[in-house]
Amino acid sequence: MSGLRLEVWPTASDAIASAAGIVTSRLAANPGLVLGLATGSTMVPFYRRLRHAHAEGRMSLAGAAAFGLDEYAGLPDDDPASFRNYLRRHLFDGVDLPLERIFLLDGGTGDAASECRRFEAAIAAAGGIDLQVLGIGTNAHIGFNEPGSAFDSRTRPVELSEATRAANAGAFAGRVVPRRALTMGIGTILGARELLLLATGRGKRAAVAGAVDGPIGPSVPASALRLHPCATIVCDAETARDLVKTTP
Ligand code: F6R
Repeated sequence: MSGLRLEVWPTASDAIASAAGIVTSRLAANPGLVLGLATGSTMVPFYRRLRHAHAEGRMSLAGAAAFGLDEYAGLPDDDPASFRNYLRRHLFDGVDLPLERIFLLDGGTGDAASECRRFEAAIAAAGGIDLQVLGIGTNAHIGFNEPGSAFDSRTRPVELSEATRAANAGAFAGRVVPRRALTMGIGTILGARELLLLATGRGKRAAVAGAVDGPIGPSVPASALRLHPCATIVCDAETARDLVKTTP
């Protein structure tokens, strides 16, 4: 039996509002919430909503902590395309999350293995992740766990697929997209107490259909959500069009 809950909204903007509402309600119930945060274009309007909620006094991250889901390898911290920079621009600069409770993978490190161990230890020291926010790649990757990633994988260096590098090329404005990254593993993600995956637009249709309706296994990384006791996919009607198992 899958614990996966599916929310299908008429528009992307409705889906984003609902996902942001889940975060604000979890924060209201638990101001010390430990979040895991994805990046990517889907998340830009989602973080904008969180910043607005904060600006309007409806949401505070003052007692919360946040872990970045993944990072490119070999980029300096201040590279405009780094996920560190993305999260700063799209979220951290506009909310009240204390700097000392922001935990990000250092993709520029010369010792990726010990950086990944340090990160796993920091998650454990924080008491684990309460709510992990996820996007999904067109190949159904979560984080940078490309198809083939083991479901018990932990934070580690990975090779990016050509499809992922092409999909993310826009952020690099003609520069070479890194071939490697550090990512929380699927096992790390499944260790969070709650998972929230946001998918919008027709480009994610096949990936979401595979995750929800296809066989569960490493060839469809997002299918791992069906093994989690408390996972929700929030999407718009456009994304959900190929789904068989839609639930109210
Ligand atoms: C980013 C990440 C990726 C993205 C996915 C979708 O931190 O972990 O899994 O969520 O590639 O990206 P967009 O939203 O740009 O299509």
